[in-house]
Amino acid sequence: MCGIVGYAGYQPAAPFLLEGLQKLEYRGYDSAGIAVFSDKVRTMKSQGRLATLREKVDAAGGIPGTLGIGHTRWATHGAPNDINSHPHSSMTGRITVVHNGIIENYIPLKEELQAEGIVFRSETDTEVVAQLFDKLYDGDLVGTLIQVVGKIRGSYALGILCKDYPDTLLAVRKDSPMIIGLGEHENYIASDIPAVLDHTRNYYLLNDNEIAIIKADSVELLDLDRNPIHHDVYTVDYDISAAEKGGYDYFMMKEIKEQPNALRTCIGSRIQNGKIQLDKIRLTEEQIKNMGRIHIVACGSAWHAAMVGKYVIEELTRIPVEVDLASEFRYRRPILKPNDLCITISQSGETADTLAALREARANNVHVLSIVNAVGSSIARESDDVLYTMAGPEIAVATTKGYTTQLAVLYLVALKFGMIRDTIPAKLAEKLLHDLEALPDQLESLFNDEEALKQLAKDHQARGTEKTRNNVFIIGRGIDYGASLESSLKLKEISYVHSEAYAAGELKHGTISLIEEGTLVVAVATQKPLYEKLISNVKEVKARGAYVVAIVREGCTDVESVADQVFYIPNTSDLFTSTLTVVPMQLFAYYTAIELGCDVDKPRNLAKSVTVE
Ligand code: G6P
Repeated sequence: MCGIVGYAGYQPAAPFLLEGLQKLEYRGYDSAGIAVFSDKVRTMKSQGRLATLREKVDAAGGIPGTLGIGHTRWATHGAPNDINSHPHSSMTGRITVVHNGIIENYIPLKEELQAEGIVFRSETDTEVVAQLFDKLYDGDLVGTLIQVVGKIRGSYALGILCKDYPDTLLAVRKDSPMIIGLGEHENYIASDIPAVLDHTRNYYLLNDNEIAIIKADSVELLDLDRNPIHHDVYTVDYDISAAEKGGYDYFMMKEIKEQPNALRTCIGSRIQNGKIQLDKIRLTEEQIKNMGRIHIVACGSAWHAAMVGKYVIEELTRIPVEVDLASEFRYRRPILKPNDLCITISQSGETADTLAALREARANNVHVLSIVNAVGSSIARESDDVLYTMAGPEIAVATTKGYTTQLAVLYLVALKFGMIRDTIPAKLAEKLLHDLEALPDQLESLFNDEEALKQLAKDHQARGTEKTRNNVFIIGRGIDYGASLESSLKLKEISYVHSEAYAAGELKHGTISLIEEGTLVVAVATQKPLYEKLISNVKEVKARGAYVVAIVREGCTDVESVADQVFYIPNTSDLFTSTLTVVPMQLFAYYTAIELGCDVDKPRNLAKSVTVE
């Protein structure tokens, strides 16, 4: 989603802005722009990649000035083109803004302003903010901003420059992320920490309805009544290299390889002396014992983690679990009872639909426990309890370590709840804890198959017809079906190869008609009670000409007589296999994307953090 940066200092602003925007590229964008203030505000913007904007700026010999704002836009209102790109200025040129979010009432505001003769240049909702600000401006910068905030509705993180204040950068937020970086004789705004990490580790998190007045040597925080606000300074505790590629060609591969360590941190820090410590959650044992129903709500891969979580939680706690897509949950009047629990899952903690679902649950007096990666994100802050996945920053749009750590937290929750509710026999609990702790090393051992998976990706693209190359089926039963959904999404997201995850038993009810000579079918078969059934499904597709790749447990060598190729995962509980089966498919998707020349980290049309509905 859109990225914002801003700079107030004594150094040239433009290089900082371009570099900061580059660090926010992972959020997804289709155009970019910067505005820098010296004797006047100079704006440059362009559709497409940041490199194009950089070329424009270089061709102009740079932009002078030590105060500026920048933006990467992911189009919502109006096509991605130079005019609709941010920053946007008012008709007089006095006010210039960058914005992340959506101004929901921009149409009536725009009509009002147009009726007064104000001419708009773009189709964006954002331009309304610049024009409205200018119209209301009375020389008092903060006073005018407060008036603007009183008139606009929706979500926004705004960075604002005013021609009358050559040393001041103004920021405000509501329902859209914004941090204030604190440097030495320079300060910054940004949508996310990586944008400022080369310059500082210290930052403030701006809350909803808070204003920041940023100058080179000061940062003042105010509420909407102009009362000063005190915020603790946060310090980034991960290494700067963690936000960069660290020798890999793509962030995605770096993040795939970071999974063992991410899991060690996520699981290891929560199991002590054979007991699970679920951080300091407020949910009481009494609430857990009397829990009616669990509603897990999420989007994208986080929803896939929820699909696996349902099986695990129901099995270990015997609490009924419903899984909802956040975008559906918020509009379907879900039946929520006071003794229910809502679990929201989100890597970024900023997904608009998930945030709205969380608010819906809380408005119904349902306790919300969130599983989140981004510390201090909106979802984390608005939840009753948060369990962080501790995966570190995830930059590639396609999630990998974000997903596997979400699974790990779901396993921990299921185990902890089950132990409290006495639904897991002691011996089994002990074995499950042991299996959980073994997962990071087991996952690491799967990287031994990397070359074979790279070859499989190559061979698949070299074989068959265009149709068979571009249609893959991934089949599984039970938990394996849940994990197949994520494996299928990985392939679609980054290589643009169409694939479908299918509950293996359902295949014969229609989809099997799509299997033809050479169709690649990946069969995931790790669930002991379902193994034989899955093998029968493999035989069914094999008989229709499919090329079958099986992912099974170590020792299940009999599958070699039916499948064309087999990948083995180490032995673990049936409940935890998704953490392992997804890894070969992450690697297969990655190498397929490489083979097809795709931009692995920044797939077309996708955004890492979707902060609009
Ligand atoms: C976007 C991303 C997906 C992600 C989903 C949910 O669509 O492209 O990779 O799974 O949002 O994101 P969240 O940050 O809430 O986990």
